[in-house]
Amino acid sequence: MSKAPVITVDGPSGTGKGTVCSVLATKLQWHLLDSGALYRVVAYTAERRGVALDDESALAAIAVSLDLKFENRGPGEDNKTILEASDVSQPIRSEKCGNAASRVAALPTVREALLQRQRQFRQMPGLIADGRDMGTHVFSDAELKIFLTASAEERAKRRYKQLKEKGINVNLRDLSADIAERDRRDKERIVSPLKPAEDAIVIDTTMCDVNAVNRQIFSLVQNRFADLAAFV
Ligand code: DC
Repeated sequence: MSKAPVITVDGPSGTGKGTVCSVLATKLQWHLLDSGALYRVVAYTAERRGVALDDESALAAIAVSLDLKFENRGPGEDNKTILEASDVSQPIRSEKCGNAASRVAALPTVREALLQRQRQFRQMPGLIADGRDMGTHVFSDAELKIFLTASAEERAKRRYKQLKEKGINVNLRDLSADIAERDRRDKERIVSPLKPAEDAIVIDTTMCDVNAVNRQIFSLVQNRFADLAAFV
């Protein structure tokens, strides 16, 4: 049996990947993998169990044994994330958890422990895979690879607005420093660093609003998968 088709959407945080992936998955009725949520859940579990963020073997043990389920909440929304029967969708989205996730994601055995779990999401009729190394490593044979970028300044502003709207008080300067630090760690790590796959289409979203980015991506999808022509 042939493998299910995959569209990978990689890039740093604040580029709008999550939104476009969720809209695409809903439109196409394909599965959705939010790989960042896996790293966030490992970091969250480590914190709850008092495991240090540099204890690689304990973190890898957490990663292989996660009792985790995702539920689609509809277009533009994060998946609902259920860990051992508790809804952890909100706590894993904190800045603290994102920074801790970036640290655990730099550890090779943690990445290896999550690899098969990610590949299991590849099921018919297809998969939208959101992350950092979806196109370069996890689904290197994907049918369509997209890499979203935006200036660090613009990404910090978007994140600031998002957090303010949720009633979370943050300081733009601290947020920018956190984003710069996370970018550096994600790009410089030895295993599967953040970079576009050689065959990825790179889209700079600095000057585009989310609808314009979505339209551009829908048209790439339509060109690549002619049989989905009716979908836009
Ligand atoms: O996309 P996100 O912000 O939820 O991801 C949280 C962290 O997880 C991010 O800083 C880097 C890491 N990550 C990764 O290394 N590889 C992925 N495929 C997805 C996320």
